[in-house]
Amino acid sequence: MSKIGWNNKKAKLVIANWKMNPNTASEAKDLFLEIKERIAGVRGVSVVICPPIVFLGELRRLYSGSRISFGAQDVFWEKKGSFTGEESPSQVKSVGASFVIIGHSERRALGESDEEVSRKVKAAAAAGMRVVLCVGESERDQSGKYLAVLERQLKNSLEGVSASRAGNLLIAYEPVWAIGKSANEAIDGAELHAMTIFLRKILVSIFGKKKAFQVPILYGGSAEPGNVENLINFGEIDGFLVGHASLRSKSFGEIVRIVSRS
Ligand code: PGA
Repeated sequence: MSKIGWNNKKAKLVIANWKMNPNTASEAKDLFLEIKERIAGVRGVSVVICPPIVFLGELRRLYSGSRISFGAQDVFWEKKGSFTGEESPSQVKSVGASFVIIGHSERRALGESDEEVSRKVKAAAAAGMRVVLCVGESERDQSGKYLAVLERQLKNSLEGVSASRAGNLLIAYEPVWAIGKSANEAIDGAELHAMTIFLRKILVSIFGKKKAFQVPILYGGSAEPGNVENLINFGEIDGFLVGHASLRSKSFGEIVRIVSRS
């Protein structure tokens, strides 16, 4: 497993979620090499690339440094056996993934339940992976009901996860209404700050204060070069989960540089 710095309070984290992109292994290789080039020499930021799992092994082989880690976009909770189409934590680890995104809203939209998410979180954490648990409300309402929705989602997704696993956990707050849009339609730093306090309080109620404060909180949802500075300076976050902007090496490189300066 590669060494990463997010336990270190000073190190921020920028995670690229490539989703089901790009089209071919050779395009994935090109994109990875371009990103590697763009972030060469940047300090104080750990970068994690989460490509489609089919490309992961090959990208891992292209890289021997420690600045970049790799992650999967999902994982199954069983260790092995007759589960066609699934991959276990040890399988994704064996091709180089030390992180795994679990409970992304796009998977939840395909039917993944909080219960399934919690089983995946437990299995991946037990296998020693760093789990990026995604939570986020679909929409907001004036009366603040979305806060209860979010609280329920976080608590249910962490059902049965023991405090001893908190060190494996990262939370990605990704309001669904902000995903795949543009910087000016995303949340702003002050609003994000309120949400990180809210999420931190829920984590404290689950894990206790000491452990809860060890869990990094990331933001995702149209994080772009145009808004990450405001979000990192005012949002009280530890980094970003970046979707569309991670498919353009220039934008992604800019995001990593801005975070390193902040
Ligand atoms: P976006 O995606 O940056 O394209 O909004 C973020 C995500 O879905 O993780």
